[in-house]
Amino acid sequence: MKSLINKNIILGVTGGIAAYKSAEIVRHLKKSGSSVRVVMTSSAEEFITPLTLQALSGNRVSTDLLDAESEAAMGHIELAKWADAILIAPATANTLARLSSGRGDDLLSTVSLAFDGPISIAPAMNQAMWKDNRTQENLENLQKKGFKICGPGSGEQACGDVGLGRMLEPLEILELFSSSFDQGNLSERSILITAGPTQEPIDPVRFITNRSSGKMGYSLAEAAIEAGAKVTLISGPVNLEPPPNCNFVSIETAKEMHEAVMHHVKSKDVYIGTAAVADYRPVTFHESKIKKDTDKSSLTLQLQENQDILKSVSELNERPYLVGFAAETDNLLSNAKKKLKNKRLDLIVANDVSNKEIGFDSNENEVTLITNAEEKVLEKQNKKKISKKIIDFISSELT
Ligand code: C5P
Repeated sequence: MKSLINKNIILGVTGGIAAYKSAEIVRHLKKSGSSVRVVMTSSAEEFITPLTLQALSGNRVSTDLLDAESEAAMGHIELAKWADAILIAPATANTLARLSSGRGDDLLSTVSLAFDGPISIAPAMNQAMWKDNRTQENLENLQKKGFKICGPGSGEQACGDVGLGRMLEPLEILELFSSSFDQGNLSERSILITAGPTQEPIDPVRFITNRSSGKMGYSLAEAAIEAGAKVTLISGPVNLEPPPNCNFVSIETAKEMHEAVMHHVKSKDVYIGTAAVADYRPVTFHESKIKKDTDKSSLTLQLQENQDILKSVSELNERPYLVGFAAETDNLLSNAKKKLKNKRLDLIVANDVSNKEIGFDSNENEVTLITNAEEKVLEKQNKKKISKKIIDFISSELT
């Protein structure tokens, strides 16, 4: 199945026995990173409760066109504007007829009229109703208008008949539905990203670390997945959920990160090092907790340099397109340019961390992209948007 990460999906549920399977569709959509809003017809409510779909989608289920509360919150126009795609599963013969004739007398039909993106439909009905000329005419008309028809399948039906008309299984539907999205400009590409801090243990209860929330690396991973790339994310300890559909590797120390990177970097097209790797680690690890010595007012820790992971990757014979981050408090651009050269990078993302409104824990960032050929400022905006622009820039460099 193609990635559905960060997509806004309306799932329309209509009144067929297969409506119980819509719960599983919601679960799969959520798992693949989509936001889901369910719109039910009144007859669908006879087969599955809105409460079930609300609990699974995490959003209020909309049922009535003229529901004052729903109009105030997410009315048909807002729903249509919010959505990237609509999936109607199951779609009854009645729904096909109503969509085909452009009716707008309930919420689902009205949202479908107001929406100008891709609509996919998974028909589900008795085999005789499916075969009926009028259903087939409606179907042809919908196909001509650009609706994508997923199924139906063939087999034994709830009513005991055998033939065409069964709704496809949820994963079969999602396979077809997800193909209605653009492949993305990084499909066929594999990307390795490091994120978060590393922790260098001093004793069982203490460690040295760097300030890093991991937000930039995680949102770059999401943007790369959204653009169709296969992503491996190697992360130090952070309070973030790994994005769905990525190969996630969790590490603690710089040494573990170095080993994981060297293992996973083979045959990758791009390496992005956003991790705030600790430059030094304690020479000795104390097996038991270091006790406070009341006679001494200071304690000396001897540190030893960690390997530079980016540099190790840049020294490989077959190296990927290499992206580093320069988090600087002074002389941002000149320090970043030095790193670009010394670490033999293709691109460095320069980030002024002395400004409290951007970088570190903030959801916003402002960065300058520097290559050997150009410099490009990405003005202050949220990390999601910045990530998308960085990924677009990398993809333009690859072609
Ligand atoms: O040299 P400095 O730590 O400022 O460089 C930052 C860049 O180098 C970041 O992309 C960071 O992920 C990477 N780095 C690394 N290994 C280290 C230190 C930094 O890969 N040991």
